[in-house]
Amino acid sequence: MSKILIKNIKELVQVLDANVIKFSGDEMANLSTIKSAWLAIEDDTIIGFGDMIDFPEITDWNDLEIIDASGKMVFPAWCDSHTHIVFAKTREEEFVDRIKGLTYQEIAAKGGGILNSAKKLQNASEEELYKGALKRIKEIQLTGTGAVEIKSGYGLSLDAELKMLRVIKRLKESCEITIKANFLGAHAIPAEFKENRRGYIDLIINEMLPIIEKEHLADFIDTFCETNYYTPEETNEILEAGIKIGLIPKIHVNQFTSIGGIQVGIKNNALSVDHLEVMTDQDISDLSKSEVMPTLLPSCSFFLNIPYAPAKQLIEKGLPIALATDFNPGSTPSGNMSFVLSLACIYMKLTPEQAINAATINAAYAMGLEKTHGSITVGKKANIFITEEISSIAHLPYYFGHNQIEQVIINGKLMS
Ligand code: NIG
Ligand code: FE
Repeated sequence: MSKILIKNIKELVQVLDANVIKFSGDEMANLSTIKSAWLAIEDDTIIGFGDMIDFPEITDWNDLEIIDASGKMVFPAWCDSHTHIVFAKTREEEFVDRIKGLTYQEIAAKGGGILNSAKKLQNASEEELYKGALKRIKEIQLTGTGAVEIKSGYGLSLDAELKMLRVIKRLKESCEITIKANFLGAHAIPAEFKENRRGYIDLIINEMLPIIEKEHLADFIDTFCETNYYTPEETNEILEAGIKIGLIPKIHVNQFTSIGGIQVGIKNNALSVDHLEVMTDQDISDLSKSEVMPTLLPSCSFFLNIPYAPAKQLIEKGLPIALATDFNPGSTPSGNMSFVLSLACIYMKLTPEQAINAATINAAYAMGLEKTHGSITVGKKANIFITEEISSIAHLPYYFGHNQIEQVIINGKLMS
């Protein structure tokens, strides 16, 4: 049995009761903390915390590690509910094309974008993909992420989609970080199906899904519902087929155009609808009557230089929001959640408290982990990080681009 006791914590952040599952609207402005606190961990679980005035008397020093966090703050590890961490190659040539004036859509239309990644991934071995993704996972762990959702969607053929999902399964088994797998076979229409979209959708439904079910390869099902990608009707059909085998929908919608994807998500009880850079009043009103978690990806807006999702408007309408990175080689080559927080504060005008709620408890909800992750709660996973000495909570998003996270504990183990 391993035990860690952290003492003299300047501020213990996001202390919640076990029954809190998400924050919406005005609630998002409040962050519950304890100043001058201690936190106790046993094996992979948080077993207690409190005010330093009530610091527990230590009777058993066996296997006990004491960390003195004087001047430092302790947060629950970030939850990153939307990534595409398994990929074969980066795409800096498209980055340069965009600098020279091409748009993301123009690059996709000439065979770049998702199809470019698919071509590269189809030629990569499972081992290469595993090693590349493992490196990125180690990197995000050290920047404070304790749970991550990973999508397929750069395979776009039966073999390559299954290859991606098997890599994710292997990562689940070998990494400390909690991982959820999302099947995104409907990420783009593969080149060879350009004139036969129906054929590819049939392949997803009749051939990919049965194997995914048999080998337990996914938790979620996703579709890129967007002009020139998948229509709302196609999205609906694919989600319904996924739901039949027990997958929960989490979908890409409203990145460039509003075409009804949100309504399809709501109809199918999606756990989250992600992106939302382009929203109509109707979309916001429909979402506010649902339990679906709007998930915003500000580092994608930053990198592609496209509008930011209307975070403040969503919160003003009483909605919750979650924040995630979208880590992928095309639209967001970064898995840094602290940077996401800075962007959310600077460009979306979230307060630091709202951004922290969005990146912890609400993000845990967006990946079905609200009972075990996303807050400092007795019985939850010991996934936390300790900052360097900082003056206030706002210092975290304020001092952008600098890693202020000194130590990360995942599953009760110190990461290095
Ligand atoms: O979430 N928008 C769709 N899919 C990814 C980007 C994919 C890519 O460009 O490789 C996203 O941004
Ligand atoms: Fe994405």
